[in-house]
Amino acid sequence: MSYDEMYSYLEARVDALKTNKTGDERQTVDEVFDRQTLMAIYDLMTGGILDSVKFPISTGKEGNVFYAEEEDGEPLALKIFRTSTSTFKRVGRYIEGDPRFKGLSGNRRKMIYAWTNKEYRNLQRYCEAGLPVPEPVAFNKNCLAMEYIGDETGPAPQLKDVFLEDPDDIYDEVISFIIDGWQVAHLVHGDMSEYNILMMDGDPILIDCGQAMTSDHFNAKELLLRDIENVNRFFKNRGADIISKDIIMEETLKGSSDDDDEEDDDYDDEEYDECEEDDVE
Ligand SMILES: Nc1ncnc2c1ncn2[C@@H]1O[C@H](COP(=O)(O)OP(=O)(O)OP(=O)(O)O)[C@@H](O)[C@H]1O
Ligand SMILES: [Mg+2]
Repeated sequence: MSYDEMYSYLEARVDALKTNKTGDERQTVDEVFDRQTLMAIYDLMTGGILDSVKFPISTGKEGNVFYAEEEDGEPLALKIFRTSTSTFKRVGRYIEGDPRFKGLSGNRRKMIYAWTNKEYRNLQRYCEAGLPVPEPVAFNKNCLAMEYIGDETGPAPQLKDVFLEDPDDIYDEVISFIIDGWQVAHLVHGDMSEYNILMMDGDPILIDCGQAMTSDHFNAKELLLRDIENVNRFFKNRGADIISKDIIMEETLKGSSDDDDEEDDDYDDEEYDECEEDDVE
């Protein structure tokens, strides 16, 4: 299969590739859908995961999230991480300290692919622990397919944009994400905020779990405290009854010991040895 053949296959299924774009749009499209990313999407499609990619839900510095569909028309969210240098710099910091990724460094694409794999596995862990996160479906290179949180009218809004009838209720639920995340999933989210919580039918759903760390990470307690402070700040402004951070910390760390029974969850570097070297910039 030639690149042109692959591209025309994708052109029919990825709306962003369809029309004749103007210069500016063209550049954005090219930045997101570089050759490797197109190959990843192609593999997800021929692998029966994805059928089409419709429209962007969110376009950020580090990644884009698209509304996509399975063959039967069921919605999916497709998160595509940029493989640019700036993303690499941010991501590198996190991966370096994570015991699951020890030994991985260097190749920029490898790091971004590892990051994608990390978000996938963090979502899996949260799911298994019973926390409400988008269920991960599949990943390939820098592309992550997951459950779409939203309905026909659009994606679920971020917590920051929602009026809360009963902030205490939602606050308690979000605090339970922190405590259960630590005690059951053995993870600390590390970027918990009103931006990374979606409100679906009145319930909070935790998203953006790429940077989540295992609770045995040397920095985990610091991240935990930061998550608590972020959540407390937001809900204080919304008029909720705030529990002091010390009490939440104590409650979270209760019964956890440092020689926890972490399962062997090391990242397998070999998987990515096939991936191409960085593009020359
Ligand atoms: N599974 C999903 N279903 C519906 N919408 C989603 C889903 N995942 C993410 N989104 C939307 O995309 C936005 C960005 O997603 P996310 O927070 O995971 O990415 P990010 O790493 O913060 O990217 P950015 O660099 O854009 O900040 C979210 O705020 C949300 O609006
Ligand atoms: Mg986010």
